[in-house]
Amino acid sequence: MLFNIAFSIFLVALASASPSSKCGTPKKQPNFVFIMADDQDLHLNSLAYQPIVRERIGEQGTTFNKHFCTISLCCPSRVSLLTGKLAHNTNVTDVFPPYGGHPKFISQGLNDKYLPVWLQSAGYSTYYTGKLMNSHSNANWNNPYPAGWNGTGFLLDPATYVYNNATFQVDRNPPVSRTGECSTDIIKDMSLDFLDKADKAGAPFFIGIAPSAPRSESRFELGSEIPYFAPPVPAERHKDLFPGVKVPRGVSFNPDAPSGASWVSKLPKLNSSQIDSMDGYHRARLHPASRVHTKKTSTSPFLIRGPGIPKNRNVDFVTSHTDIAPTIFKLAGVDLRHDFDGTPMPTTVRHMNGARLSPRCTIMLRWSTGGGGGLALPRATIQSRDWDQVARSAPTPTTPTKRSGSWGSLAAWA
Ligand SMILES: *[C@@H]1O[C@H](CO)[C@@H](O)[C@H](O)[C@H]1NC(C)=O
Ligand SMILES: *[C@@H]1O[C@H](CO)[C@@H](O)[C@H](O)[C@H]1NC(C)=O
Ligand SMILES: *[C@@H]1O[C@H](CO)[C@@H](O)[C@H](O)[C@H]1NC(C)=O
Ligand SMILES: *[C@@H]1O[C@H](CO)[C@@H](O)[C@H](O)[C@H]1NC(C)=O
Repeated sequence: MLFNIAFSIFLVALASASPSSKCGTPKKQPNFVFIMADDQDLHLNSLAYQPIVRERIGEQGTTFNKHFCTISLCCPSRVSLLTGKLAHNTNVTDVFPPYGGHPKFISQGLNDKYLPVWLQSAGYSTYYTGKLMNSHSNANWNNPYPAGWNGTGFLLDPATYVYNNATFQVDRNPPVSRTGECSTDIIKDMSLDFLDKADKAGAPFFIGIAPSAPRSESRFELGSEIPYFAPPVPAERHKDLFPGVKVPRGVSFNPDAPSGASWVSKLPKLNSSQIDSMDGYHRARLHPASRVHTKKTSTSPFLIRGPGIPKNRNVDFVTSHTDIAPTIFKLAGVDLRHDFDGTPMPTTVRHMNGARLSPRCTIMLRWSTGGGGGLALPRATIQSRDWDQVARSAPTPTTPTKRSGSWGSLAAWA
């Protein structure tokens, strides 16, 4: 299946507009810079190759060691993140229509019920650059425009993942191909520009930054709905980094005896040329080409720094993408919405210590086999079989206890 895996790293850096607030004076709302990159994986060590992230955010803030995406599929995951709701409640469950993609986000009425719209109502100016959702494309970019943003520079399908010829669509202007430029560099420039604008505007701000890197380069050949995948294309200055790096040889790497559950247990053993090719791919994006729906691939690196956030700290309580919108609400001093499925993550020493003593949360994980709308496999089958898989691979102690929605879901306890 296509687009099975699109996991993300979420780095939130907060800079308070007023670092200290005295009793009696109203506290100014903090600014948010939210960076999200595709295809990051905690257990496969993607952070090991990002020293600046470790130094500037990890050492200066808190790293969440058990941060899950509640649905390990790109568009539904992003929608959960931006709405604070689980996929069975957003009803955006795939990357393409009819069950998912940006058009489904629109038809579910979510364009005026998501984070930037709520933040604007709370007085924020909001900016976004990079990939918003799958199937946000040349064909539908202005019909309607994504609501809630003061400034945008979106990557658009079908050239979202074409590193040196990506399509960008800025504010209300028509899409433009940026031939010969590295898309990540364009996103960096736009982000800096938004920072300047936001700073000048004076209101508290939220800036979302979502490069497609290090995801595979993929293109749609003319007339085909099936994308062509190739290794990601690094910027010229980065292309010789990481010589000799290989896919981590963990216990689940090409085991002699089949392991795992469901379709994973039926995969044939890889031969040497397949392993060489995976290692090459891994060097290109520092993420293996395997597709495994387990704890390993649903645990994303998540780091946060800012005023009041403990420095150089690692925490082990469970959090999820669905908690991100509620966390931003709480930090911004906005009343939580009743329809949030997530809850604010602890961000202060006191709350973190409390969460450590009293296990705080239940998260629900679900798997689907995205890609190609009608081509998707029957989800219920995969879902129920993967239950066992997750029960064995989720953090201990684990109790699969709760089903909900038509696909069934799973609760992991920490
Ligand atoms: C969820 O999406 C499906 C498929 O598009 C649709 O048939 C169904 O009516 C939707 N349900 C809700 C509650 O929006
Ligand atoms: C951002 O957009 C909102 C909604 O249109 C508007 O009220 C606000 O003034 C804008 N902020 C800036 C800095 O332009
Ligand atoms: C860049 O992309 C556009 C549209 O996606 C295409 O028309 C053009 O031929 C491409 N240019 C190159 C050099 O590949
Ligand atoms: C490895 O398996 C692939 C796919 O079955 C096959 O095309 C290739 O020739 C094999 N290579 C070796 C060295 O056996």
